[in-house]
Amino acid sequence: MEIRVVPLPEERKKPKYNDESQLGFGRLFTDRMFIAEWKAGQGWVDARIEPYAPFVLDPAALVFHYAQEIFEGLKAYKWPDGTVALFRPEMNARRFNLSADRMCMPEVPEELFLGGIERLVALEKDWIPTSEGTSLYIRPTLIAVEPVLGVKPSDHYYFYVILSPVGAYYASGFKPVNILVEDRYVRAVPGGTGEAKTGGNYASSLKAGLEAKKKGFDQVLWLDGVHRRYIEEVGAMNMFFAYENTVVTAALSGSILNGVTRDSVLKLAVGLGYKVEERPIDVNELMADIEAGKVKEAFGSGTAAVITPVGTLCFRDVCHTVGDGGVGELTQKLYDTLTAIQYGKLPDQFGWVKKIG
Ligand code: COI
Repeated sequence: MEIRVVPLPEERKKPKYNDESQLGFGRLFTDRMFIAEWKAGQGWVDARIEPYAPFVLDPAALVFHYAQEIFEGLKAYKWPDGTVALFRPEMNARRFNLSADRMCMPEVPEELFLGGIERLVALEKDWIPTSEGTSLYIRPTLIAVEPVLGVKPSDHYYFYVILSPVGAYYASGFKPVNILVEDRYVRAVPGGTGEAKTGGNYASSLKAGLEAKKKGFDQVLWLDGVHRRYIEEVGAMNMFFAYENTVVTAALSGSILNGVTRDSVLKLAVGLGYKVEERPIDVNELMADIEAGKVKEAFGSGTAAVITPVGTLCFRDVCHTVGDGGVGELTQKLYDTLTAIQYGKLPDQFGWVKKIG
C-alpha cells in the first residue's frame, strides 16, 4: 500500500532533547507519526505519515469503553557508522497479529506493519539518540474507534505508530531490581488474554504494582492464576533463573507474553554453553533454590527493560538475595552480547538485525 507523507511545517518541529542522559522512558515523542485506517467493507485505507498530533475521537469510541486495543514495543538503534537498525521486527509483526486475532481486530498485513515503521523511522532518524543504553522506542498500536456502546468488534480501527527517544526503562538504569512475588492478585488465567499484548492486561496490573511500590519493591512477579504457584512473568519482562549450568524460564503456557528478547536470550544462553529449560517453575522450589545458593542469578528480559538484573526476590514476607545481590556474570554477558548485536558492534550471526534507511 502506498504511504502518503504529509509535509511537516517548520513551526510543527519540536525542540530536540539536549541531554541524552535525561531521556527516561516514553515521555518525549518525535515530530511525525504513522497512521492507517481499517474500515469494514473496505479493509486498510489511507496509510500516511503526518505531523505528530492528538487524535480527535468520539467519546463513544469503543476503545474507551471496552478496551479493544493492542500494541507492540520494538526499538531502532543508531550504529557508530550512522546505520539505523531494527531488531527482529518481523517477530513483533507476527505477535501483533496474534494479539489482533485474540481481540477480534483486523490483521495488519506484515508489509503495512513493517513498511510503516521503516518509513517513519527513516524520516525521524535524527531523533535516534546514540549514547550507551539509548535508542528510539517504537510503539505500534491498534485501537477501535467506532462510536457505539454495544459490546462488539469495531467496524473502524486506527493502526498508528509513534516514536520515543528513550534511555533505560527503570530509573535506576542497569542495576538490580527488587521483586515481590504476588500471591493475591493475578494477571492472567488459562483461556484469558495473558498472551496478547493488550492494554487491559497492564491496567489490571496497576493495583498490585502500586501496593508493591509502597512496600519498596520495583515490580511484581505474577504467579499462575489457577494454582497461584507457578512463576509467570513480570508485567514488562519475562523472567530467567540461572543455575550452575542451566537457565530456566517459564514455558509459554498461553498466559504469558512470548517475548522477542526472551527468545533471543534463550538462543544466546545456548551459545554461551548453558542448557536452557522452558518449564513450569514452582515458586516454593525456586525460593528454596535461591536460599540454598543453587540459583546463581535472576534477571528479566524485555524490549524496554532489555536485560534487567534481579537483586532480591520476596514471597510472603520471606526475602532472599539472589547470588550476592549484584549483577551476575551471565546477566552482564547476556546484556553485553545482546546490546552489541543491536548496536552493530558484534556480528549478527542469527540474522536478527534489519538495517533500514
Ligand atoms: C516493551 O518492553 O516494549 C513493553 O511493551 C513493555 C511496556 C510495559 C513498556
